[in-house]
Amino acid sequence: MTQPVVDVRNLRYQYPDGTVALDGVDFQLYPGETVALLGPNGSGKTTFVLHLNGLFQGEGEILVCGMPVTKPNLTAIRAKVGMVFQDSDEQLFLPTVLEDVAFGPRNQGLTPAAAIARARAALQQTGMEHVAAKAPYHLSAGEKRRVALAGVLAMSPEILVLDEPTTFLDPPAERGLVQCLTSLPQAKILVTHDIPFARALATRAVFFEKGKVVAAGSVEEVVRSHDWEI
Ligand SMILES: Nc1ncnc2c1ncn2[C@@H]1O[C@H](COP(=O)(O)OP(=O)(O)OP(=O)(O)O)[C@@H](O)[C@H]1O
Ligand SMILES: [Mg+2]
Repeated sequence: MTQPVVDVRNLRYQYPDGTVALDGVDFQLYPGETVALLGPNGSGKTTFVLHLNGLFQGEGEILVCGMPVTKPNLTAIRAKVGMVFQDSDEQLFLPTVLEDVAFGPRNQGLTPAAAIARARAALQQTGMEHVAAKAPYHLSAGEKRRVALAGVLAMSPEILVLDEPTTFLDPPAERGLVQCLTSLPQAKILVTHDIPFARALATRAVFFEKGKVVAAGSVEEVVRSHDWEI
């Protein structure tokens, strides 16, 4: 049987102030799947995805491509899991967009020229090549999201994790993102409140509530079972 690329068993996480954000999450992502993570504000979705590349370490077991997410494996895990954070300000830090997007591939050991070529290709994929010379902190919110996505694509990860990727995107940019993601072969986790976006891309959905996965099925089934639409 095909092995999952992400396999999470009984994950629990408590913030230092005592908030139990994850209360026994089981989750599997298989090659080629796109899974939407739905659920109310504060249900633990972001906390969950931040575990997948070891930014948070809760109790339980997480395997990424068969490797436990533990300190010695973090470099390898982070090469496999490309993550676009809910707050993309945390992701952009170099003087120009191009350098920023090239940072990941450079860090993976590519030559400067190869890293820049990857960065240009990734910026093109997200429709952001025209801002290559700009300072990341001068970008609009939607532009920052798309550049952050380019930064992740430039590293050719095996798994893409996008936390609220459509926030701040205008309708053409959202359509562009759907097209871009459809064309990418990676397994994907999309954390989203945007049901049309989930419908357009996800092969499956799970619903988080109070730190647990309380429903799973097709996007339609999950949306209907939780009356989860505006
Ligand atoms: N640094 C923190 N310290 C304490 N509690 C936190 C912290 N960050 C998040 N929480 C709490 O953990 C719970 C889960 O938060 P999380 O951000 O994972 O939710 P979410 O499902 O991503 O919500 P949203 O849809 O609003 O993005 C919430 O109750 C939140 O208040
Ligand atoms: Mg969140």
